Amino acid sequence: MKFVNVRNLRINASRVIRKIKQEDIIVTRRGKPVAALIPLNENMMDEFLKLRKSTRSQKNKTNYQIDRQIGAKVLKKKNINVAIVGATGVVGLELLKILAERRFPIKELRLVASERSAGKTVRFKGVRCPIKGLRGNSFQDIDIAFFCAGSSVSKTWGPVAVKHGAIVIDKTAAFRMDKNVPLVVPEVNGEILKNHRGIISSPNCSSIPLAMVLKPLHNYARIKRVIVSTYQSVSGAGLKAIAEMEQETKRILNRLPTKRSEVPTNVGITDYRLRKTKIFPHQISFNAIPQIPQSNAFCEDNYTDEEIKVIKETGKIMGNNSIKISATCVRIPVYHGHSESVNIEFARPVSPAKARQILSKAPGLQVLDNPGKQLYPTAVEAAGKDEVFVGRIRIDRSVKYGLNLWLVGDNIRKGAALNAVQIAELLLK
Ligand SMILES: NC(=O)c1ccc[n+]([C@@H]2O[C@H](COP(=O)([O-])OP(=O)(O)OC[C@H]3O[C@@H](n4cnc5c(N)ncnc54)[C@H](OP(=O)(O)O)[C@@H]3O)[C@@H](O)[C@H]2O)c1
Repeated sequence: MKFVNVRNLRINASRVIRKIKQEDIIVTRRGKPVAALIPLNENMMDEFLKLRKSTRSQKNKTNYQIDRQIGAKVLKKKNINVAIVGATGVVGLELLKILAERRFPIKELRLVASERSAGKTVRFKGVRCPIKGLRGNSFQDIDIAFFCAGSSVSKTWGPVAVKHGAIVIDKTAAFRMDKNVPLVVPEVNGEILKNHRGIISSPNCSSIPLAMVLKPLHNYARIKRVIVSTYQSVSGAGLKAIAEMEQETKRILNRLPTKRSEVPTNVGITDYRLRKTKIFPHQISFNAIPQIPQSNAFCEDNYTDEEIKVIKETGKIMGNNSIKISATCVRIPVYHGHSESVNIEFARPVSPAKARQILSKAPGLQVLDNPGKQLYPTAVEAAGKDEVFVGRIRIDRSVKYGLNLWLVGDNIRKGAALNAVQIAELLLK
């Protein structure tokens, strides 16, 4: 004898499910019985499953219109079933906030993380929503799946989600340089979105603001070369990295040891509650670490993975690989907001005043540039905001036509979650 899984019946969470006997299940609301679920016999169960399958496949057919010319899927409906893979992480939690703020038309929200988090809850529009472990059926009936759980999860599960009919918006590096995957910043190259084949990539948190600033300047005076140095916040390395910076800072301010080697030999290590796992390769508090990511960072010519991403992704987003770019990426002890010092060499002249005028008209940018009044963007002020801020725009006299500028953007919002939601919004237009 089989029993209907009560969870599959999507009973309102406010109802209490009580198993009275082995066989029958009574659904109660505020202590009063409102329905009785009887065990199904084999025949009834088969009918039920068939009916469910046929309604689902009909639903899937109406969700998409297949454009045969480009093989792209375009979302047609306005009430969307959304999955977030990595819903308990820094980016996943911000995604939830932004989907609510921008009233994204969600019909069903499926929150997914690792099995470690299964059963936990996170808040969406004031309601506690359950987290589910990532499984084969996580994408059934899903229209848009946001992936923010690391590259290996995206590589394994992104194609599974597409097979189930979902459009994947991926926040990881898994598919960014794949020539069949559009790498989209809506303000810069939103028009390429229609070429997707099920997976759309959102760029790295440093590449997004950089491309937003470079593109309008390039359109005006053709950029020949860029030298960028980033100053990236710890939230860029996830929740555990934030916790590490906080614990380390507290220990340093309390004059407690931060390394095992500093623990006096007559004191048990556990007395100091030193971290078991360490995210950063060096002390992050009161420091600057010229290595991102924190492990397996170094690649060809001793550039880091992050530096290579900034170089290659910026070229791909701008649709121009002839611009020469060099990058140095540095982690600094800031909660939110990546700052970038950008040196640009142009083919044609562009004055600081003209650059200010161009950038102040560009979508998603805000110019804050009045040195006399100490007005320029900082990470603390940019945190929590949607715009990318630009300031310190000044001439570089070391080359024929050159400018220096300083930009700051919230890495969790425009650098990650907001850009992903804007991509989803474009799909619905
Ligand atoms: N932070 C940023 O500024 C930023 C910006 C752009 C892109 N990204 C990218 O976005 C991704 C997430 O970053 P984050 O900062 O949000 O990291 P995070 O705070 O460490 O969160 C990681 C999330 O992934 C989930 N996860 C880990 N392993 C999983 C697995 N095997 N199956 C299912 N879920 C799993 C975690 O679930 P549990 O809680 O269950 O472990 C958690 O929800 C990364 O690829 C990162 O490179 C981050």
